[in-house]
Amino acid sequence: MAYSEKVVDHYENPRNVGSFDKGDDSVGTGMVGAPACGDVMKLQIKVNPQTGVIEDARFKTYGCGSAIASSSLVTEWVKGKTLDEAAAVKNSEIAQELALPPVKIHCSILAEDAIKAAVLDYKTKRMAAAAVA
Ligand code: FES
Ligand code: FES
Repeated sequence: MAYSEKVVDHYENPRNVGSFDKGDDSVGTGMVGAPACGDVMKLQIKVNPQTGVIEDARFKTYGCGSAIASSSLVTEWVKGKTLDEAAAVKNSEIAQELALPPVKIHCSILAEDAIKAAVLDYKTKRMAAAAVA
């Protein structure tokens, strides 16, 4: 199957590969798997606790080229966004930007699920911290 130029670009030069310390208070971690193919994606955000703006993002994806490209793209998109803006990123926007064919749509859904999970993880952590304080 032919990948689009943008997929190949993100696949060959993935942005923001790596990870942050999960225990860091300012970090949210989203880990999701695709039952269809067994691929796994971990996406992390680093948030400024004062402003609630995402300052940095990292990912590690064990999966196909489209999954890697989708997660790479999302880490770029969410930088500078608020938590709510980041959680509103749609898989259809990812699929459109990368020109994903229908059989690869689930790869972009994985990225949407991962960023939502990362935002939720960060919010849950902050609420737990507030409850203790
Ligand atoms: Fe993972 Fe295609 S290689 S779903
Ligand atoms: Fe399953 Fe891409 S994540 S084929």
